[in-house]
Amino acid sequence: MQEEAKRMKKLPLYLFTIIDDLKREARDRGLDIIDLGMGNPDQPTPEHIIKELCKRAWKTENHRYSRSIDSIEGKLRESIAKWYKKKFNVRLDPEAEVLPLIGSKEGIAHISLAFMNSDEIALVPDPSYPVHFNGVLIAGGKVHDLPMNEENNFMPDLDAVPKKVLKKTKMMFLSYPNNPTAAVATKAYFKKAVSFAKKNKIILVHDLAYSDTVYDGYRAPSMLEVPGAKEVCVEFHTLSKSYNMAGWRIGFAVGNARILKALAKTKGYMDFGLFKPIQYAAIKALTGPQGCVRKQVALYKRRRDVMVRALADIGWDVPKPKGTFYLWAKVPQEYSSLTSMEFVSLLIREVGIVVAPGTGFGEGGEGYVRFALVEDEKRLLEAARRIKKVLDKNR
Ligand SMILES: Cc1ncc(COP(=O)(O)O)c(C=O)c1O
Repeated sequence: MQEEAKRMKKLPLYLFTIIDDLKREARDRGLDIIDLGMGNPDQPTPEHIIKELCKRAWKTENHRYSRSIDSIEGKLRESIAKWYKKKFNVRLDPEAEVLPLIGSKEGIAHISLAFMNSDEIALVPDPSYPVHFNGVLIAGGKVHDLPMNEENNFMPDLDAVPKKVLKKTKMMFLSYPNNPTAAVATKAYFKKAVSFAKKNKIILVHDLAYSDTVYDGYRAPSMLEVPGAKEVCVEFHTLSKSYNMAGWRIGFAVGNARILKALAKTKGYMDFGLFKPIQYAAIKALTGPQGCVRKQVALYKRRRDVMVRALADIGWDVPKPKGTFYLWAKVPQEYSSLTSMEFVSLLIREVGIVVAPGTGFGEGGEGYVRFALVEDEKRLLEAARRIKKVLDKNR
């Protein structure tokens, strides 16, 4: 058997594979699994969106390969531009400044392939959503970690990047509201990031997957709201979270036309765009009634409140986030001698509770675990009850 490519061997271990094995083993032993590991939305796609997909799926002309010159893609781009204007008051040229994607993960991975050479560096917060660094590594580039922690309020210190590193830096990734830390950033930080990118001639990639999933009156800004950001920035969005369309695979990138052109070119060699009925359904999602989004956010808010309170009641204090459907929790004191992966393994083995180890998102995630609030309130309370049993053993 031939060896896999060297660049694939450079990738960090995918911890979710190990977690899947642990889950299987626990299930085989008869344990009921409560899975708060992956950020995989559990609620259905709103009905009006599904109906649109079904209607369009019956049309033969929608079964052919999709091309960017097709009128439906033009309409999708226009809908995205209108959504942007309404949501962020940012004006976009639908032709040049909007690019539909087969899920934002696809686009984020390919942007590194479009730009990174082997001697070039990308600045990536540590911890981060894994495709931010894995995309760079697959493309053959180098990653320079930007530590992200409580001390810097989860906003990496850009002034601390060494000049030597900056000389070779081509791209920088940021993402707020943040996965996995659930942190949000200030508008002042966004301004700083844009001027830093401009000064150092760096492509600024902002991943805004959780723009809608925000609470307590917080509004997640677009990086493109910063005057002049379009000169250096592209921003990624997804319909996976706001409209529960994770399995449908649809997202989009917006921003600098030249950067998007290079991304589109790269994709042109790899894919044939989106299934047309999905494009129609996405237009429906973006231009249709938004009550479904508000309902979804209200549901996550209730889950957040229930789980933060339930964890506090068992003696595990976890901050209440303003955005995302994650909780970023320090490994409890009772088990602070364990690595985050060891603690996660223990929870799965002993009580069938799955959370993500912080190190699944980079070394900087050590000492933390991430809860994804993708089970209902009753199950969350049950999870807290079972976690208490594990904590009590070491008290
Ligand atoms: C920060 C972030 N970006 C991107 C994605 C991927 O989204 P998509 O389903 O559009 O590929 C996720 C999914 O969890 C995410 O958390």
